[in-house]
Amino acid sequence: MSANLLRGKPIADAIKSEVEAEVAEIRASHGFSPCLAVVRVGEDPASAVYVGSKVKTAEELGIISEHLHFPAETPHEKIVDVVKALNARDDVDGILVQLPLPKHIDERTVLELIDPEKDVDGFHPVNAGRLMQGHEALTPCTPAGVIEVLKRSGIAIAGKNAVVVGRSNIVGKPMAMLLLQENATVTICHSRTANLADVCSRADILVAAIGRAGFIKAEHIGEGSTVIDVGINNVSDPAFARELFGPDDLEKRLGVIENRGFTLVGDVNPKDAMEKAANFTPVPGGIGLLTVAMLMKNTVTAAKMRRKL
Ligand code: GUN
Repeated sequence: MSANLLRGKPIADAIKSEVEAEVAEIRASHGFSPCLAVVRVGEDPASAVYVGSKVKTAEELGIISEHLHFPAETPHEKIVDVVKALNARDDVDGILVQLPLPKHIDERTVLELIDPEKDVDGFHPVNAGRLMQGHEALTPCTPAGVIEVLKRSGIAIAGKNAVVVGRSNIVGKPMAMLLLQENATVTICHSRTANLADVCSRADILVAAIGRAGFIKAEHIGEGSTVIDVGINNVSDPAFARELFGPDDLEKRLGVIENRGFTLVGDVNPKDAMEKAANFTPVPGGIGLLTVAMLMKNTVTAAKMRRKL
């Protein structure tokens, strides 16, 4: 058997088209465009790429975006003042502070300072609490994107066994809550879970959000399951690449490693997932593309909620 690939691009494109139409309608009926402010501190190369993509996508959809970039040595108090100023601006609908922040800046303090009504990442405890209690909330973009992929691919969630591997506040925990909201039977696994392969292999829907390349292997994957790979890792070792990719993919991946120094790999061994799962999200080209689309959707949602449209 070879799994059906759940590609992110058509689904992300559909969501972006819907957001673009909604932005145009807001502009026509209410005379403004939603505005997203992105705060980035320091020179983390991955963050620069992600923020560039967020700002560019916003502009493509008619959302006003501001990219506020500060040097790595900017004091904590300065970033606090920046967030407070964005909270106070009536024209700003969404505030996103790109993570990771430099070590001397207290991430939790900064994230908790963002006005929950403008918290388009859904990381504020008020939004996490609202999600947990099943109330309307701004929800973290990556897990919200996973739900969109499942629904728009016609994969049933209600009554299914969903297993989430990883318990981060950004992905694992909100993912579990969103699956619960969709009436799945949810298990959260982590580094201390006993018999991980047994638990995972019983999943109808397995979501991997661990942050370790190819960690989920054949023994973890149930025959005919849906495997959602949230991980994005760099693999530079050609010998490891040989364990991860089948003959269809291997030559291309080895070429990428040779040219760029690394290839992108999720938390799931793709060769094993293709053999055992019924549906599988590729890396790259899977869930990653949804994160930005959902951020745009959250920005419009935040604008409509705060401005009571
Ligand atoms: N860093 C990696 N992923 C994310 C994300 O979804 N939001 C923010 N703010 N920072 C990140």
